[in-house]
Amino acid sequence: MSRDPSAADPGAIAPLLSYLGEIGYGDLYLRDREAPMAVAAADSSKAPEDHPAAPQGAPSAGGDREAIAALAALAQEASGCTRCGLAEGRKHVVFGTGDPRADLMFIGEGPGYHEDQQGEPFVGNAGNLLNKIIEAIGLTRAEVYIANIVKCRPPNNRDPLPDEVAACRGYLERQIELVAPKVIVALGRVAAQTLLGNDLPLGRMRGQWYPFHGAQLRVTYHPAALLRNEALKRPTWEDMQLVRDALRAP
Ligand code: URA
Ligand code: URA
Repeated sequence: MSRDPSAADPGAIAPLLSYLGEIGYGDLYLRDREAPMAVAAADSSKAPEDHPAAPQGAPSAGGDREAIAALAALAQEASGCTRCGLAEGRKHVVFGTGDPRADLMFIGEGPGYHEDQQGEPFVGNAGNLLNKIIEAIGLTRAEVYIANIVKCRPPNNRDPLPDEVAACRGYLERQIELVAPKVIVALGRVAAQTLLGNDLPLGRMRGQWYPFHGAQLRVTYHPAALLRNEALKRPTWEDMQLVRDALRAP
């Protein structure tokens, strides 16, 4: 899982610049001498659909192989889950996607319409923005792991209820254990409150690292919130720069 940014194609910077321009950080980016290097691993020639949901590539070690197999078995188990009422309305269980041994894991709230239809997290508008955010720190969607607090879509995208969160929690805990990321990003209030076990507003949870199941956890805004409120894009980018730096630290 080595990601030497210096090995990157400088041409890959173009999509980042376009993303940053779009979300209003162009000037900030240009002042940050580090950022262009960080970007390089992103391969802009690939649309998100080109990254299959299934684990890619040969496991590098026995431990990886076992963890990957265990994660696949857990996904299989979850696919028939009836632990809560959300099972009734779903089309697909949306278990997770990406590199099963990723250093970086994103945790959202729960599937929306498109996710339920396709069985994959973050494939709608918020997902497109999340992909750009991931690429802005020099990674691709396939190189991170993405999951949600609840694996089945709540009706009308309402917040998941406490009993639904509780019923699903074991899956997420096993996912975190098996992926064993270095850094976890909680996307939005519901994910952050659930993971941290509090009821604080999102703004109070941002701005610090939390030790979490052997990883470091950081809270940032949900990409859907960024789509509603442009002003949240800059603080999110600041959070993500810290995430990028933490991933690079030894
Ligand atoms: N919002 C989420 O929290 N998760 C998804 O998978 C999609 C949108
Ligand atoms: N409230 C949320 O639920 N998410 C955000 O990202 C910001 C505010």
